[in-house]
Amino acid sequence: MLKTLALWVLGMFGLLQLIQIDIPEPPKQIDPGKEIKAPKLIMAMLKRSCYDCHSYETKMPWYGHISPISLEVKSHIKEGRKAVNFQEWSNYDDAKKQKIYKGIVKTINFRMPMPMYLIVHEDAKLTREEREIIKKWAESHIKEEVY
Ligand code: HEC
Repeated sequence: MLKTLALWVLGMFGLLQLIQIDIPEPPKQIDPGKEIKAPKLIMAMLKRSCYDCHSYETKMPWYGHISPISLEVKSHIKEGRKAVNFQEWSNYDDAKKQKIYKGIVKTINFRMPMPMYLIVHEDAKLTREEREIIKKWAESHIKEEVY
């Protein structure tokens, strides 16, 4: 009875592995000239806390390939890159850049990096001071609205 149950669970887990999402392949040649340009300190923080989802430089953990966790992880990467890819920065027009800078100011205190991600990525946590520095930097790029 227990054996049947165990086999059943194992079988379901196996079947689950057939459900996968694909993240679009990063370009073969990533042009470093397209990356956002920011002071060293800012770049270091973005790379540490944001690049897993907002660049092509995703460090995928082993469990990131195991369904159903992979469905969650990969959709974050896919959606994250779509929202902001710091390595595609020069492709964005002014309006999109402004939207991102504003988005950073808006999200840096609570939503970004994603809280769920921080549970398993201690090293990506930003201190209150670090958040303030990122916020100030983003704010400095926001142009006054013209009415
Ligand atoms: C675990 C993946 C993940 C990490 C890490 C992450 N993001 Fe995101 N980010 C997302 C996803 C997914 C979206 C799109 C969905 C959404 O807006 O919640 C997003 C959206 C955004 C947006 C657009 C949101 C808006 O409302 O305008 C900004 C700006 C942003 N992220 C900034 C950052 C910054 C800055 C960091 C690092 C400090 C960061 N993110 C770290 C996954 C992530």
